Amino acid sequence: MTLRITKLHPLFAARVEGIDIARGFSDAAFAELRAAFEEHSVIVLPGQALDDDQQIDFSKRFGPLEMMLPHAGNNMNPGHISRMYNAEEDGSIIPPEDRRMIYLTANRIWHTDSSFKEVPSLCSLLHARIVPPEGGETEFASMRAAYDALDDETRALIAGKVAMHHAARTRDMVAPDLVSPERRAKPPVRHAMVRTNPVNARKALYTGGHAGKIEGMNDTEAEALLNDLLDHATQPQFTYAHKWQIGDIVIWDNRAVLHRGRPWNETIHKRILHRTTVAGDGPTV
Ligand code: SIN
Repeated sequence: MTLRITKLHPLFAARVEGIDIARGFSDAAFAELRAAFEEHSVIVLPGQALDDDQQIDFSKRFGPLEMMLPHAGNNMNPGHISRMYNAEEDGSIIPPEDRRMIYLTANRIWHTDSSFKEVPSLCSLLHARIVPPEGGETEFASMRAAYDALDDETRALIAGKVAMHHAARTRDMVAPDLVSPERRAKPPVRHAMVRTNPVNARKALYTGGHAGKIEGMNDTEAEALLNDLLDHATQPQFTYAHKWQIGDIVIWDNRAVLHRGRPWNETIHKRILHRTTVAGDGPTV
């Protein structure tokens, strides 16, 4: 065992020390890290000095990366890096009413990355470059713990059910015009409401802000059930809020957790984090 693993919450999330990503590490150390990821769903690796290329290379060890679509949040630049930021290249703070910042506030709604794609993401890696002194945490909800705590009736109700996910849902909650007409025209995608981890067979609820309808249920019932599940899953006992330090890289399992960014005093303090997103290995249904 080369890694030191310290639990950050009784139910999930762990800090992992013993890897310096920039210096490189063995396949055996990566195998331990990957096992910790499958076990704890959220992994925090502190003190990693990385540039974008190093972050991309490290992320690829988990699998092929998703390509970010050009959108207001990333200055219309497609690529492997998605920037969570509120400062221009020259260091000046971007006002919250700027369209790019409004776009990024959709990340403050509980979601799982890329659930609007037919093949949703396996995991995301977020690296802290500049962090505010207070606020701006990223909060996670364990969908395994939430599933385990469901009553038998609800588990039976959602077993085998499929929900419909669309990217416009979270953006429309922020402002009506954030999604391009082409993106809005894309049909919603179908996802299983319960996912099973292929390594340890743990079951997790799979829902979040992009989920709107449920096949075989009328819209009112579906919306009520999705809201109830989200309220249940995001109770304090199932959540962990990560307080960022510069150099932290946090890896989360999009199959097993929801996440959301938390506000901070963005007119005064900068917050810059870079995200890479690893593609999943197939559709969920
Ligand atoms: C994200 O939703 O990927 C980023 C969340 C954050 O900014 O903390």
